[in-house]
Amino acid sequence: SVTPTREDKFSFGLWTIGYTGADPFGGPTRPDLDVVEAVENLDRLGAYGLTFHDDDLFAFGSTDAERQKQIDRLKGALDATGIVVPMVTTNLFSAPVFKDGGFTSNDRGVRRFALRKVLRNIDLAAELGAETFVMWGGREGAEYDSAKDVQAALSRYKEGVDMLAQYVTDKGYGLRFAIEPKPNEPRGDILLPTLGHAIAFIDTLERPELFGVNPEVGHEQMAGLNFTAGIAQALYQGKLFHIDLNGQRGIKYDQDLVFGHGDLQNAFSLVDLLEHGAPQGGPAYDGPRHFDYKPSRTETIEGVWESAAANMRMYLLLKERAQAFRADPEVQEALVASQVAELSVPTLAEGEGYEALLSDRASYEDFDAAAHFGGHGYGFVRLQQLALEHLMGAR
Ligand code: GCO
Ligand code: MN
Ligand code: MN
Ligand code: MN
Repeated sequence: SVTPTREDKFSFGLWTIGYTGADPFGGPTRPDLDVVEAVENLDRLGAYGLTFHDDDLFAFGSTDAERQKQIDRLKGALDATGIVVPMVTTNLFSAPVFKDGGFTSNDRGVRRFALRKVLRNIDLAAELGAETFVMWGGREGAEYDSAKDVQAALSRYKEGVDMLAQYVTDKGYGLRFAIEPKPNEPRGDILLPTLGHAIAFIDTLERPELFGVNPEVGHEQMAGLNFTAGIAQALYQGKLFHIDLNGQRGIKYDQDLVFGHGDLQNAFSLVDLLEHGAPQGGPAYDGPRHFDYKPSRTETIEGVWESAAANMRMYLLLKERAQAFRADPEVQEALVASQVAELSVPTLAEGEGYEALLSDRASYEDFDAAAHFGGHGYGFVRLQQLALEHLMGAR
């Protein structure tokens, strides 16, 4: 069915449906969205979760009383609807104090302030029962190579997140951290620009098991990368802790379109992977299907809710298409012809090492490279045509 239910685990950032349309060239076109209205509408549309930055819920610089009032209003709406908060994140990019970043600002005082802001928000995340704490380093970066010591910045990032991991461990919080990569915007270059950079960085941490990634469709595509292939590697490495779904069309500014409204074909292969795992099985993703998009500036509040519904509908339509693709006997046959399953057969026999391989004449001396090179095709184009026909509803 393409009607969303709680079981689909669709969640939205408060900043997504709450986006008022302000961009670098013009002010808001919509009024602020109240958190209670946000929760009620997500519930009405069939979502299960709301996520937020601290500053989305209570303005930067709020008094303790103002902050608490907003938290209580959120809790009231959650209780009334059953909507949950699976993820919380911290805004270390909007306030002017973070103009050179948070954890990696050149200014040590700013770095200490950023850590305190995050610690306070981790307490709130735990209180609300969140499982994931996302860290998008929006301003952790630079415009000029001369202005930022990248190796020192990585050391400070590690120092900061190691301390946060110590904190959640000491407190007994069940939180895990998910680093969200982005190549650029708002900085000219951002630290940990792709999911590959982030996964490599996680290896250097004191508690790598507490850290994974929160890749966003558009962010990898801004770097010209294949999002589905990146997600496959994140799954392979056990690091897909969370995901930001949206749409992007090519290498340009961060569009944050509705999911599927960008590279539809990559969205199809992504949903197939998230829902079913690799062609031969293997890990699929069972976390929240989180939308991080921006309702276009041209839309009214009715358009905001239409676009929120569109994200979920696109996901469910693609899920149906992916199920049909996998179930089609002709696709199964084409997969065999393309030897897709054969890649799961280990290259060496059980217990075989280089000595046995060196003495296996069939693998080299008697191997007919000409036959393998020219003699048989793989039929990948036929397989892709079948995939696209399923995507288009033509089969
Ligand atoms: C972007 C980012 C942000 C982050 C969010 C979480 O579009 O540039 O996705 O939206 O996901 O701020 O910190
Ligand atoms: Mn984005
Ligand atoms: Mn995001
Ligand atoms: Mn975003």
